[in-house]
Amino acid sequence: MVSKIGLVGGGQIGGVLLSDIVSRGLAREVGLVDVKPPALAEGKCLDVAEGSPVIGRDFAYSASKDFSALKGAQYVINTAGVPRTKRPDGTMPTREELLTINLSITDAVAAGIKRYCPKATVISIANPLDAIVYRLYQKLGISKNKLIGMAGVLDSARYRYFVAQEAGVSVENVEAMVLGGHGDTMVPIRSACRVAGMPVEQFVSAGALKKIEDRTRKAGGEVVGLLGSGSAFVSPAWSALEMLEAIIYDKKKILPVCTLLEGEYGVKGLFVGVPAVIGAGGVEKIITVKMTAEEKKLFKNSVAAVQNTANEVDKLTKALAKKPAKKLAKK
Ligand code: APR
Repeated sequence: MVSKIGLVGGGQIGGVLLSDIVSRGLAREVGLVDVKPPALAEGKCLDVAEGSPVIGRDFAYSASKDFSALKGAQYVINTAGVPRTKRPDGTMPTREELLTINLSITDAVAAGIKRYCPKATVISIANPLDAIVYRLYQKLGISKNKLIGMAGVLDSARYRYFVAQEAGVSVENVEAMVLGGHGDTMVPIRSACRVAGMPVEQFVSAGALKKIEDRTRKAGGEVVGLLGSGSAFVSPAWSALEMLEAIIYDKKKILPVCTLLEGEYGVKGLFVGVPAVIGAGGVEKIITVKMTAEEKKLFKNSVAAVQNTANEVDKLTKALAKKPAKKLAKK
């Protein structure tokens, strides 16, 4: 058990993170930050605290609208952001406007972490994942091992689930990896997919695998469509907690994570989804996967998409530096 875990964002994902951290007994204290009035963070924490006697877990918490609740946290999970919803006047924000708002939120999150828990290891879930992790790294100034984006664990879990369903076997039997950026270009690595250690093709036909891979790329949108509002929240929270537990318990677990590449895979200066050993040091070692020629091509294409996003972030943040964040958030 660690002394304190900080959570930024107490919405759908933040709520599951909070209740699971308490029920799994991962920390003595949780600090929850959310700007939502009247006092969402306090309300979420009080709800869990009042349930804690029922599950026999002592739960200390700090909750705030500013970042003070993060004080002293050893680990932080970031889910702060604004989803793509209609404005009160009925219009939709453009992708660029939404990204600008989320980048200004990200800058505030980085400043909060730097002020209250500069030594924390940070796992970021907020979307657009690739853009936000890239920006957090620019603003946090921490070692690259201590900032990890969560996308690959979830994308791989979705792939594993679909394969398990198709093969008629337990999800526990299926190992898989989805790499690259967290978007339509993500790359399910079929050659690394195993069912109880055996090649997946022994259990699932090539045609069915192709359908599964397409579904995996669009799985986030499928859930959004079914929910009607909001996006997947249980599976992303559990995925981030798998990463957090690997760090807390120094498991040295190989997981697909969004991490800074500095020459690995021929990529420099970009956060891209690749497998890495996750332990007490955060990202301890990047693993190079042998890919087929086709997978290499798809991975390269995905890296190009991540590069475009990074360029867009650089362009927008230059503009952001000239405008006060509040003005942008009101748009
Ligand atoms: N500081 C703290 N919290 C903030 C800030 C901020 N500056 N800005 C927004 N928030 C909070 C919102 O008030 C909201 O409660 O972040 C929370 C986000 O919660 P939800 O809207 O419920 O979103 P959720 O489903 O939890 O997803 C969070 O993860 O998977 C991604 O696409 C998803 O980017 C989204 C993020």
